[in-house]
Amino acid sequence: MRPLDPRLLKHASAARWFLLVGAVLGLAQTLAIIAFAWLLSQSITLAVNGESFARLRGTIAALAGVVVVRAVIVWLLEVAANRGAAAVKSQLRSAVLDRLAERGPDWLAGQQDARVATVITSGLDALDNYFARYLPQLLLTAIATPILVLLMLWQDPASGITVIIVLPIIPVFMILIGQATQVVQRQQWDALQRLSTGFLDVVGGLATLKIFGRDRRQAARLTDLTDQYRGRTMKVLRVSFLSGFVLELAGSLSVALIAVSIGIRLVDGSLLLGVGLFVLLLAPEAFLPLRQVGAQFHAAADGLAAAEEVFAILEDDDVRPVATAPAGLPTLPTRAGVLRFDGVTVHRGEATPIDGFSQEFSAGQLSVISGPSGVGKSTLIGALQGFVPFDGALWLDGGLIAPGDSRTWLAWAGQCPGLFSGSVTTNVTLGSATVDDDLVATALTWAGAGDLDPTLHLGVNGAGLSGGQAQRVAAARAIYRCLALDTPVLVLDEPSSALDTDAEDALIRGLATLAAQGRIVIVVSHRPAFLTAADRVVQLKEVAHV
Ligand SMILES: Nc1ncnc2c1ncn2[C@@H]1O[C@H](COP(=O)(O)OP(=O)(O)O)[C@@H](O)[C@H]1O
Ligand SMILES: [Mg+2]
Repeated sequence: MRPLDPRLLKHASAARWFLLVGAVLGLAQTLAIIAFAWLLSQSITLAVNGESFARLRGTIAALAGVVVVRAVIVWLLEVAANRGAAAVKSQLRSAVLDRLAERGPDWLAGQQDARVATVITSGLDALDNYFARYLPQLLLTAIATPILVLLMLWQDPASGITVIIVLPIIPVFMILIGQATQVVQRQQWDALQRLSTGFLDVVGGLATLKIFGRDRRQAARLTDLTDQYRGRTMKVLRVSFLSGFVLELAGSLSVALIAVSIGIRLVDGSLLLGVGLFVLLLAPEAFLPLRQVGAQFHAAADGLAAAEEVFAILEDDDVRPVATAPAGLPTLPTRAGVLRFDGVTVHRGEATPIDGFSQEFSAGQLSVISGPSGVGKSTLIGALQGFVPFDGALWLDGGLIAPGDSRTWLAWAGQCPGLFSGSVTTNVTLGSATVDDDLVATALTWAGAGDLDPTLHLGVNGAGLSGGQAQRVAAARAIYRCLALDTPVLVLDEPSSALDTDAEDALIRGLATLAAQGRIVIVVSHRPAFLTAADRVVQLKEVAHV
């Protein structure tokens, strides 16, 4: 882990701002530290010399002033850090979301989406610690420590040289401790993984285990795993406490070394009390930021790990080929109401599920794309949506569709319903600014779900509906979009795989109505009812492999 990842500055302008503000505040804080040490040593010297209170008063007032100023600077730094963290998190999150939207679900399918979700939500929250605790100390280490060491060197070369010699011990300790903790932390992480997967397996297979009378043995195994995990956790805690202790010890011993040398020279009179006190007060301040960096390092690591995953997403640039009309194609006459696939070819690694697909789909027709499972029907639709990179060209109404164009002309329902918690209406009107209840009712009816109560509340992932009902709500969503935005193209990917014949017939009637209104309606299906009702059937296998 690098102390400061330059990619953070690259991807989040708020981080640059925070560094700038933090540097200014760090400098101000350093000056306040110096002023405090100087004024305190002056007051003590004056008091020891038996000066009158009247002479002391000014110095003490200034000292109080400096204390207040220092507190205000610390507060400002805290405010800047928290605001900086909030701004950086929000910038990284929106950058990732933009990226995900740009890449589309096809790319996301290749990622572990649960992990992406965790990283951009709670994962990035761990950056709070990085900004609020770690980075300010890192800035102080870079700003305050050198200034204070130079000052000490100037005021009392002996102490300055001592600091320069012992200061590097702390980072060396930090690195050694870091390596030691990494090993035990990895072991603990492995133990946790084993424990959780083991537990999940046991819970999943509990019925089987019970029937075969093996549940007791699993209990023993879990006890054993838990015990191992407890042991490892204690080991990690031991190493953490020990490392904290070692860092504190190194810091305290270094200061003590300086204190002893100053004390001896004060006694033999070779050092003035004022200077001695001043340097002695500065010494711990020179060590403090570095010790804090070490102490906050682990707290910051989580946030940086999350940020690193975010950078990996942001910087993953296998560019999507931009579709252009292949050379040598005859120029197409502009034809309204036609969606044309022109030699569309999709590569999936080694395989080429869609190879030179050329077809026209006309408005007013219910077209059905059929073909065996895995032949590439959904892939073809993905290309139409701009989610799957493809070669070849797509034309609508005679105009070329570029992959990056927004698909405002398309209404689509995928193979998986993709419902979420909320009312049926919310699920149907997804993404629409206004809700038209009559239109929702029409969409539900045309999707064969006229009997479904639009106010019914669904659970997570549309829980509460049967598979067939969920499919119809998803189809209603596409139909609603088609009607509300008046999109010329409606595409449904296997909308009736879980429907009974009545519901399927209602859906077919609805889709035929939509087609008759002059829309291009394409349905991916192998169901006989659809094949019979279709104005046109495209058998994908034959077309793709002729
Ligand atoms: N995201 C993906 N990445 C790589 N290959 C994929 C992806 N999705 C589908 N495929 C492959 O592409 C082929 C066509 O899949 P698909 O279009 O989903 O078939 P179907 O005709 O059943 O809808 C299959 O061989 C499948 O394994
Ligand atoms: Mg499919």
